[in-house]
Amino acid sequence: MTECRGALKAALLVCLLFPCSYAWIRQFHSSAHLSIGQKFVPAEFNHTYRGQINSNESMIYAFNYTRLDNETDAIRVTVSSTNALETNPMLVVIKQQLGVLSWQVPLNVERIYPFLTTSRTLCPTINYHINGLNESAPPGEVVYQDLYVDLSTSSASNVDFEFRAFQVPDFFIEMNVPMIFNVTPSEPQYVEFEMPPGIDRVLVTIESLEDNKFCSYFSIQPVHCPVADEESQLRIEGYYQTVTSKGSIVVTRDDGYDKFYIVVTVKPVDFYCTQIEQIISPKNATYLRVKTVNITVTESLSSKGYTIAIVAAVAFFTGFYVITCALLASNIVKWKYCFGKMTEERVSQPDVDSHGKVLDALEKDLEGNPIPEPNGTEYASPSTSAKTTRGQSKTPSPNQSASDLAVSQRRTSVSSLEDEVDFIDDMSDDKNIVRGKTVVTVSDLTRKSRSRLSKKDRQYRWSMITICIFYGLPVAQLVLTYQRVLRSTGNEDLCYYNFACANPLGFLSDFNHVFSNIGYLMLGFLFILLVRRRQMQYIKSRNDEPAAEGKEKGIPPQFELFYAMGLALIMEGLMSGSYHVCPSYSNFQFDTSFMYLIGGLGMLKIYQARHPDIMPNAYLFYAFFALIILVTVLGVVYISISVWIGFSIILVVFTFGLSAQIYYLGRWSLDCGAPKRIYDRIRTDGLCSWPKHVDRFVLLTLVLLVNWTIAIMGPIWQPIDFASYILATFVCNYGMYVLFYMVMKLRSGERISRLTVLFILLACATWAGSLYMFYFSPINWQETPSQSRSINQPCSLLKFYDKHDIWHMMSACSLFFSFMVMLTLDDDLMTVFRKDIVVF
Ligand SMILES: *[C@@H]1O[C@H](CO)[C@@H](O)[C@H](O)[C@H]1NC(C)=O
Ligand SMILES: *[C@@H]1O[C@H](CO)[C@@H](O)[C@H](O)[C@H]1NC(C)=O
Ligand SMILES: *[C@@H]1O[C@H](CO)[C@@H](O)[C@H](O)[C@H]1NC(C)=O
Ligand SMILES: *[C@@H]1O[C@H](CO)[C@@H](O)[C@H](O)[C@H]1NC(C)=O
Ligand SMILES: *[C@@H]1O[C@H](CO)[C@@H](O)[C@H](O)[C@H]1NC(C)=O
Ligand SMILES: *[C@@H]1O[C@H](CO)[C@@H](O)[C@H](O)[C@H]1NC(C)=O
Ligand SMILES: *[C@@H]1O[C@H](CO)[C@@H](O)[C@H](O)[C@H]1NC(C)=O
Repeated sequence: MTECRGALKAALLVCLLFPCSYAWIRQFHSSAHLSIGQKFVPAEFNHTYRGQINSNESMIYAFNYTRLDNETDAIRVTVSSTNALETNPMLVVIKQQLGVLSWQVPLNVERIYPFLTTSRTLCPTINYHINGLNESAPPGEVVYQDLYVDLSTSSASNVDFEFRAFQVPDFFIEMNVPMIFNVTPSEPQYVEFEMPPGIDRVLVTIESLEDNKFCSYFSIQPVHCPVADEESQLRIEGYYQTVTSKGSIVVTRDDGYDKFYIVVTVKPVDFYCTQIEQIISPKNATYLRVKTVNITVTESLSSKGYTIAIVAAVAFFTGFYVITCALLASNIVKWKYCFGKMTEERVSQPDVDSHGKVLDALEKDLEGNPIPEPNGTEYASPSTSAKTTRGQSKTPSPNQSASDLAVSQRRTSVSSLEDEVDFIDDMSDDKNIVRGKTVVTVSDLTRKSRSRLSKKDRQYRWSMITICIFYGLPVAQLVLTYQRVLRSTGNEDLCYYNFACANPLGFLSDFNHVFSNIGYLMLGFLFILLVRRRQMQYIKSRNDEPAAEGKEKGIPPQFELFYAMGLALIMEGLMSGSYHVCPSYSNFQFDTSFMYLIGGLGMLKIYQARHPDIMPNAYLFYAFFALIILVTVLGVVYISISVWIGFSIILVVFTFGLSAQIYYLGRWSLDCGAPKRIYDRIRTDGLCSWPKHVDRFVLLTLVLLVNWTIAIMGPIWQPIDFASYILATFVCNYGMYVLFYMVMKLRSGERISRLTVLFILLACATWAGSLYMFYFSPINWQETPSQSRSINQPCSLLKFYDKHDIWHMMSACSLFFSFMVMLTLDDDLMTVFRKDIVVF
């Protein structure tokens, strides 16, 4: 592999040297042919020579200078002409002991504009690294060096010239000492840097002064001769990036860069940086593109600093494990006590139930249908017969009880089969049972046997695992390929890093952004452990005291979606890590796919709590996400107004469907009969009839309004990129659904336990913090690489993590806390009979 690369480089080098040697040979040929008037002039540095040449007369300036033993002899040659023509240019050939350099005046950089002033720095002789050449002269001995500058032309008429050579006074750049110089397309510049002992990593930063945005190339190259200071040669070795106003490259000694050149060239047009084609007049005599740059070399983080930063992050997240363990170890008994006490409080405190009463009273009033006054303590004493009438208050018809009876009979008769087959009829039965009721309770929607439910539930976890493997592996492979291409070509425009804070380690160019995702992994795993613990507890308590039929307490325990969520959090970490191996426009969906899934799973989990029987299938759910990802890919690849509108239509239809699903508790269907039903409904109830479930109606209307605003505003404003827009939609809906659930919970006379309140507060605090950090994005892959680079930000935490890393860590915490809110949200119902838990 390396041999192959070496051979390739050698071949490229030969190809590039070929034009030089060709020009040299041609020069020799022409001077031999036109040797009539070759003028040989001994010359000195710092002296400006002016003169005229034509096809009969050429000039050779000969320098004889000494090199001190401790100096590198970098010489800069400037040649300009006022009347040289592109058809008969002045040829400049510079011959040194070990090499030759040639160009022509006017210099036509990329065939865009012929520049009449040209300058080049000659590669110091020492850097040729030829065996037998002494690195430095023996002490006390003077080494003479020869330099010939040959100016010639084939123009019959006189060509004037101005020529000067000087030893570059500050060829070496020092640590922490800014160096400022001018660069133009025909006058590239480079300086050399040698890493002081004890320093392994340096950050080289370039900044353009005077807010000057000319497109330039910034390159780091190993110290060789000839130096590739022409744009066309940059791609041979080292690293290079396009720069408008700011650029940074971290250079490590391990990569073989204990000495390197920092090369700056300016492009004749800005197209490479802005992707905007400009029309320039090629004969504009004042086509000035002078870029003044400020280059600084500062020490980057040492290996010790790396260790500290890595250990600190791991320790921070290990802290979560420690705190959790401590809390669980010390508080197990107390928690139970807490819950027990809370239930007792409820019994003795009749007005706790007032919300429930209000709800019932509202319903009674609105329907003008007197219902039996609910028992004030029904939540606490559910065994009374008042209970059964409560749910069926509206239509206590014999029909209803008959169907109830029929179902329970059938349930007993087919219970042995149920485990194997999912009866579709059964599901519609369930829906029909609840159809007539005003207040549906969770036990009405938990009629399927436990094994059937858990079988259905398990599909979520297993499908999730399959998706993770099938989606994750190709992603990892792809980004590692990107990274390899970056390292072998040195083209730092491939990936949108925060170059001002991209700490390389090993194979990775930007280790900190990959590593800071550790939080998702560690907290995802912790969440899975906590779910596991809860599940074990539940199984144990069920085995200890099996609940009788109809006497089950609490929300039906289903844990598989929690596992899927934990897994999604872990995958989010892995995917975000993969995206940050080489962030770019086309990779961004890796970062967001699992965020969508987390949002979707969260909403589904909340829905599942009170609607266990009427959950969508796992296949359906994941297929929906496949559709979303398809839309995202379309949006990223073929972004156009029609994709935005398409998504808006999907959003409007889906949110309407979901709201209807939630409002009618799954008892609605969209078929040919729907318009007639609606018509009937309107005829009987009147158009402006008050909805039956006011709370639900108002909240869902708000949700719909927000979604439709998003749907309308998206295509009109197109505020952010498409993937982020979809993500924002998901996050927004997830948040709204959580809020909806909590408001409905409180309205139904339930409580939010103290632990949950704590988690809610923690989640809100961390979300606020992490969104604040997210706002300061140090990259923007919607722009060109160089424009993105100009908003790069230096590291802010431990000199290793930037704001985006802090966002990774804080958002991992906030997701964890949000998950914990969901895990503990219905803890107050643990001791409440399932028959008494209202569905909303
Ligand atoms: C050339 O001139 C510059 C100032 O223009 C001076 O710093 C430098 O020492 C001079 N070099 C020689 C070799 O005279
Ligand atoms: C070059 O030399 C030739 C022959 O000696 C002469 O005819 C011609 O005029 C000269 N050209 C110039 C530009 O001096
Ligand atoms: C350069 O100058 C030194 C001392 O004046 C002399 O010894 C040496 O021969 C010269 N080299 C050339 C090529 O003229
Ligand atoms: C080179 O050495 C001389 C004396 O030996 C000293 O005056 C000079 O400053 C040194 N130059 C550099 C660049 O170190
Ligand atoms: C290089 O220097 C060593 C001593 O410093 C000397 O023996 C040797 O001849 C030199 N080689 C050349 C090519 O000058
Ligand atoms: C010529 O150059 C000047 C100075 O850079 C610039 O302002 C002007 O727009 C240029 N003219 C054209 C036709 O490009
Ligand atoms: C050059 O950059 C350094 C470091 O960023 C800064 O301290 C210095 O002020 C800059 N120089 C100029 C002239 O802006």
